[in-house]
Amino acid sequence: MISRPRGTRDFDVAEMEKRRFIQKQMENVFKRFAYKEIATPTLEHLELFEIKSGGNIIDELYSFKDKGGRDIALRPELTAPVMRFYVEKLQMETKPLKFYYFGNCFRYDRPQEGRYREFWQMGCELIGSCSPEAIAELIALAYHAIKKTGLVNIRLRIGNLNLLEKQVRQAVAASSSDFSSAFHTDIFRLIDKNDIDGMEQLLTQYKSSSQQIDLFKGFLQSNNLDNIAKYFKDSTEAQADIDDFKKMLDALELFGVPTRDVIEMKIARGLDYYTGTVFEIEAPQLGAEKQLCGGGSYTLVSLLGGTEIPTAGFAIGFDRVMMALDREKYEFPISSDLIYVMSLDRDLGREVIKLVSQLRHSGFIVDFDLMNRAIGRSLKHADKIGAKKTIILGRNEWDQGNVIVKDMQSGTQQEIKKEELKTFIA
Ligand code: HAM
Repeated sequence: MISRPRGTRDFDVAEMEKRRFIQKQMENVFKRFAYKEIATPTLEHLELFEIKSGGNIIDELYSFKDKGGRDIALRPELTAPVMRFYVEKLQMETKPLKFYYFGNCFRYDRPQEGRYREFWQMGCELIGSCSPEAIAELIALAYHAIKKTGLVNIRLRIGNLNLLEKQVRQAVAASSSDFSSAFHTDIFRLIDKNDIDGMEQLLTQYKSSSQQIDLFKGFLQSNNLDNIAKYFKDSTEAQADIDDFKKMLDALELFGVPTRDVIEMKIARGLDYYTGTVFEIEAPQLGAEKQLCGGGSYTLVSLLGGTEIPTAGFAIGFDRVMMALDREKYEFPISSDLIYVMSLDRDLGREVIKLVSQLRHSGFIVDFDLMNRAIGRSLKHADKIGAKKTIILGRNEWDQGNVIVKDMQSGTQQEIKKEELKTFIA
């Protein structure tokens, strides 16, 4: 027996029905926000992800040499591919561009519940604006798409990397001019992991005083913009970021998203391409892998050879949404529309096929006996596969222009005129 690779999953019929149902719910919200679907390949040149995705992602890449000796990677996410597509083909299109996607991603991580080597993301990228209103609309989209699935318990957190970076610089400025990119990566990674001890150690290594460290820790705990402004006394740049943050929160409320307690300065995000606003949505009931969605504004286009333009986006971890719904014991409103057709007489076999075809043409989901089962067994089978109604063809009824329709739930049977069949079973 050959088993599936570690960190991958098979989905049975019931699970696929649930997944497709939730996918549609979210897609409908994306469409209502005037986002349009695009798709990119599962394979990309390895280089695409080495440019700016950052250490975590690179360590986890599935990559290989193809038969032509080219370095290829399975996509670990879709932002870099979408930006590659934009730079290659879409730069001349009218802005803003609002794209959404649904696709599988691969990360060679240690598998555990909620963390897979193959997983699905539904996300969007906005190209052309990072104004407070644009970011607010983006966050509202992520929030409403997740809410639309029926999930109750979610938490939105919004931070700002410009402000965070300025504070990191202030925390080391007086003592060290060495704000290297290695330091930047390390400190952001520690903040992202909420590793306060590690962060303190690193800052001490960079000769921050305990006073500076305390100040920085105070900043990370701040969740009120007036309070946050006090950390940036002389910076007009920081004040502009704070004013934009306020405008964005105001617009977010207008988009129907509650903004109480959403500010969280310690959001650092695990990918290196983010710049200003960053946000995450979590489902606390999922424990360690509670992050359902992550995103923000970012810079990638110019690094890929395109003309610089504001960009922002997010991705929802589809598998985690499914898990969170499961934890909340969500009842999927999935009803069967299956119609089963069978005959009591073998010589009606051709009539069965004709009727099945007509009904399928009219849009019904129809199945019929392919295994020459006896009548009783055929009915049992129809029941097992969840048929809503079974149409039974009998010689006498058929010759009189009728069929028998059995309601599989109530068990009642009725003789119906062939011409009235479609309306009756609809
Ligand atoms: P990310 O935070 O790396 O961001 O991933 C987004 C979401 O994908 C996570 O919040 C999580 O729900 C899900 N996810 C990540 N890794 C796994 C895994 N191994 N197993 C299951 N689910 C996982 C991005 O990928 C960015 N491209 C988001 C973005 C779009 N930023 C701007 N535009």
